[in-house]
Amino acid sequence: MKIVPLNLADRGYRIYIENGLLTKVGSLLHPWRSATRLVVISSRRILDLHGEALQRSLTEAELPHEVLEIPDGERFKTLSTLESIYKRLAGLGVNRRTPVVALGGGVVGDVAGFAAASYLRGLPCIQVPTTLVAQIDSAIGGKTGVNLSKGKNLVGAFYQPRAVLVDPELLLTLPRRELDSGLFEAIKYGVIADRKLYDQVVRQHRSYPGRDRAGLAGMIVRCVEIKAAVVSGDERESQARMVLNFGHTLGHAIEAATRYRRFTHGQAIGHGMILATRIALQLDKIDPTEAETIQSDLRRLSPLPPLGNLTWKSIHHHMRSDKKFTDHRLRFVLPRRIGEVEIVEDTPLEVVEAVVREYLRQSRRDRISHQGA
Ligand SMILES: NC(=O)c1ccc[n+]([C@@H]2O[C@H](COP(=O)([O-])OP(=O)(O)OC[C@H]3O[C@@H](n4cnc5c(N)ncnc54)[C@H](O)[C@@H]3O)[C@@H](O)[C@H]2O)c1
Repeated sequence: MKIVPLNLADRGYRIYIENGLLTKVGSLLHPWRSATRLVVISSRRILDLHGEALQRSLTEAELPHEVLEIPDGERFKTLSTLESIYKRLAGLGVNRRTPVVALGGGVVGDVAGFAAASYLRGLPCIQVPTTLVAQIDSAIGGKTGVNLSKGKNLVGAFYQPRAVLVDPELLLTLPRRELDSGLFEAIKYGVIADRKLYDQVVRQHRSYPGRDRAGLAGMIVRCVEIKAAVVSGDERESQARMVLNFGHTLGHAIEAATRYRRFTHGQAIGHGMILATRIALQLDKIDPTEAETIQSDLRRLSPLPPLGNLTWKSIHHHMRSDKKFTDHRLRFVLPRRIGEVEIVEDTPLEVVEAVVREYLRQSRRDRISHQGA
């Protein structure tokens, strides 16, 4: 078993990674045995696939538990889902020592994590992530929250889990589109910090999840190490953690402009990384050959749905209203080479606009030629 520490003074914790780990969750949770039953929060879809194995492991470890089901999907990452969790927790007579186990992807992890952060001013939370996005990104680092109709993740808290238990074999049941969404995040870690990881994702991604389980687990470990190191140095994203936003400035705007329906998060970030690379090229931050490599590898990773009828006006509007832009500075994380990025404050708007407009024109041309073919 690989154990990656996340060092944060009194709030540090460990991330355990191993194929087949779900069967050991009970024994790993023994230190969090409480006076009351522990509470598993998950959705029906995930419980149908992996709930039984988790519950068997808890029962074998003599850990009494309740299962609290929430509806599946981003559109239920809301205050009303949160309220339903609070009511159930109150009904169960939960106390401050009752651990919450979040079994699921980023949606379950974010909602259950925020419920744990806020109910009785804080219950211990253990994350058991079941998507690649959650295993390498959202379950680690303590960002929790829900969406409002005005925007994503507008209500939330930094609240670190007590442990993160990662079983890469849970990804065997994940739809390809969701796996690919996580692979875009994996390639992001490669570009920001590790050329070897980048090469591994580019070369091996087609053999994940089933044909190269050891390779997939190793790739997850490396991504987790990078995220844990970055968060350890800057929990609340004052500077260093910003590198994790490579591809996210325009990626988030594209997601918001398409009302979170057309693209997975990873696909939107895929477009965002291509755009950030083109901006870096315009600003002479990156060698043209290296920029071309990043763009073509991203395109080969998984087909990116076209941007369709999106306009610069709408992307610009959403980029400006992103919560990370409250200080009105156009901050971009730009690649210098694979394995190294630079945070550029006050990126010239005219460069961003020209790059986005050209990308939209190209996307429309590609769509027309595909239709004509
Ligand atoms: N907190 C953070 O730091 C952070 C970081 C990145 C993303 N996020 C958030 O994460 C969310 C996206 O997470 P996601 O991509 O995991 O999506 P998700 O949680 O919606 O899961 C995607 C789908 O996969 C299903 N699923 C989950 N595990 C499965 C499995 N093992 N087998 C089969 N199906 C499975 C889910 O039921 C769901 O239908 C967004 O809300 C985003 O804002 C948070």
